[in-house]
Amino acid sequence: MESRKELLLKKYSENGNTKMPGGMMGPGPGGRGGKNRGPMKLEKGKNTSQSIKRVFSYISQDKMKLLFVLLCAIISTVSSLGGSYVLRPVINNLVDKNTTKSEKVEMLILGLIVMGAIYMAGVVTSYIQQKVMIKISQNAIQRIRNDLFDKLQRLPVKYHDTHTHGELMSRFTNDLDSVGEMLNNTLVHLFTGVITIIGTLILMFTTNWILAIVVIITIPFMTLAGGAVGSKSRKYYGGQQRALGAVNGYIEEMVTGQKVVKVFCHEDEAVRDFEILSDELRANQVNAQFFGGIMGPVMNGLSQISYTITGVVGGILCLTRGFDIGGLTVFTQYSKQFARPVNEISMQVNTIFSALAGAERVFAVMDEPMEDKHKQLKKLYTKEEYDKLSENEKADENNVLIHGDVELKNVTFGYVPDKKVLKNIDVFARPGQQVAFVGSTGAGKTTITNLINRFYDIDEGQITIDGIDVKDIDKDSLRGHIAMVLQDTHLFTGTVRENIRYGRLDATDEEVEAAAKTASAHSFIKRLANGYDTIIEGDGANLSQGQRQLLNIARAAISKAPMLILDEATSSVDTRTEKHIQHGMNRLMNDRTTFVIAHRLSTVRNVDCIMVLEQGEIIERGTHDELLLKKGRYYQLYTGAVELD
Ligand SMILES: Nc1ncnc2c1ncn2[C@@H]1O[C@H](COP(=O)(O)OP(=O)(O)O)[C@@H](O)[C@H]1O
Ligand SMILES: [Mg+2]
Repeated sequence: MESRKELLLKKYSENGNTKMPGGMMGPGPGGRGGKNRGPMKLEKGKNTSQSIKRVFSYISQDKMKLLFVLLCAIISTVSSLGGSYVLRPVINNLVDKNTTKSEKVEMLILGLIVMGAIYMAGVVTSYIQQKVMIKISQNAIQRIRNDLFDKLQRLPVKYHDTHTHGELMSRFTNDLDSVGEMLNNTLVHLFTGVITIIGTLILMFTTNWILAIVVIITIPFMTLAGGAVGSKSRKYYGGQQRALGAVNGYIEEMVTGQKVVKVFCHEDEAVRDFEILSDELRANQVNAQFFGGIMGPVMNGLSQISYTITGVVGGILCLTRGFDIGGLTVFTQYSKQFARPVNEISMQVNTIFSALAGAERVFAVMDEPMEDKHKQLKKLYTKEEYDKLSENEKADENNVLIHGDVELKNVTFGYVPDKKVLKNIDVFARPGQQVAFVGSTGAGKTTITNLINRFYDIDEGQITIDGIDVKDIDKDSLRGHIAMVLQDTHLFTGTVRENIRYGRLDATDEEVEAAAKTASAHSFIKRLANGYDTIIEGDGANLSQGQRQLLNIARAAISKAPMLILDEATSSVDTRTEKHIQHGMNRLMNDRTTFVIAHRLSTVRNVDCIMVLEQGEIIERGTHDELLLKKGRYYQLYTGAVELD
């Protein structure tokens, strides 16, 4: 039981999104103020000062506003100190035996007015300060978020292979949130806290230095007690976060995999495992909430003790050394004011560190290396596009007219070092030719297409288009001229029409329909509730797998790219529909250099050349007839002597 728990926690806490869903946490373990996240596991980044600098570079674009906020913070802090300073002469005047009643009332009213004005100024400035600071920090967060998303769109495919979706998602959610929180509150708190501490210290010492020393002596006790509760709370809080991550991760997986769970009748097991995780979460939450919750009362109690000691010592000083009542009253106020920021700052240290660690993770994504920025890259143009260029642009040797002559020369590649997936691949396709790849699953067919459009870069050999190394071609331009129907289809939320138009954004409605007809998708689209305006939900959950593929083919058909890659484009379509599409597919391939990967060999019978791929190597090549005559692997596959697995 115990080990199963550890196993589940380990498995799911890493991928789970550790974001706390609002209601689940209750008031939060921070206790006091409820604004900060409370004592969280103290995580320190490796490069804290660098992260601070970078976060500041995002705020510093609002430099004037920031200065204004600091000014407001100073005014509001000074006014809260000044208010109690005025109290002293007022109280002393009240207890003074030498002043008349009317003088006392006069002084009292005057004092109240002055204090009111000072506090009012404090309220107004802190209102403004809060408002402006939130604006600044949200602006900064927006800039970081946009930069991060921009980067995400440009990261090489390889990056996504080694980082889970959950991981990337949490850069946008958890990490950005914690940075935002730090900017919203913590910074200003820290700043006002320091001013308050310094200001109060000065006021305390000028009011009465003996009492000031008494207050300072009590501080280490408070810090120690706070630290003890804090470390307990941190421990359980960390456990709670881990368990929460696991619970979320588990739910996520079971929701997305619900059908598989049902098919294999794993409901009971799923529930059992969930109960283990859920129980772990409850146990940690109880403790985390408890220690988080008593933090405030403990600190309060301690500050009451310190308050009492101050009162007693102050009273004695009044009696023996002529310390004034007004002085004592304001002093007790100071001592309270003093304790507050000390507590606050010590609690915010956690927020700051976790925010900086978050910032560091965000910046790490932003700093992922991008390829060949420095190189002068070539841009491809089809005949139609090229004709539209100005004479000047045509003269630029980096703008090239392409025909779609693709060649792979002695290409060797592995996704990871020392595990070669492709070995010495030589393939060429002249403009308009069709080349097919056949072979078992895992032979490396998809990989070849991933290399042509440069999802990955090759280790050895060369891939050229019209004689130009693909490494010298601008990636966008390269991919813009290769229409692809990927093996894993993906549809975006939006209408059918929008999804087809994704292949070429300036396509007209007529062109969308024409493409759909080419892909034999028109008739089923017509039967949908709203035809071309039907909204596609959740990656096409309301369509069949085959229908999704047809939309993907339509998407490729609408593009005018001179090169085309079809990766098992019709694997989920029934044979009858496939026959039906064949005509359209032929039109689609017509005039385009095409690489087609097909599961059903019958569909590639007419291509110019068939490559039989096994374990990353081309073991046979030729036309359908040639390969049949050879009576080799292809013959076996075609006649059914060997099954294509
Ligand atoms: N993103 C990836 N990272 C690491 N290995 C991969 C990746 N994609 C595919 N592979 C491996 O490369 C080999 C060839 O895969 P693939 O080209 O998809 O085969 P096919 O399309 O012929 O079925 C397989 O052994 C597979 O495990
Ligand atoms: Mg494949």
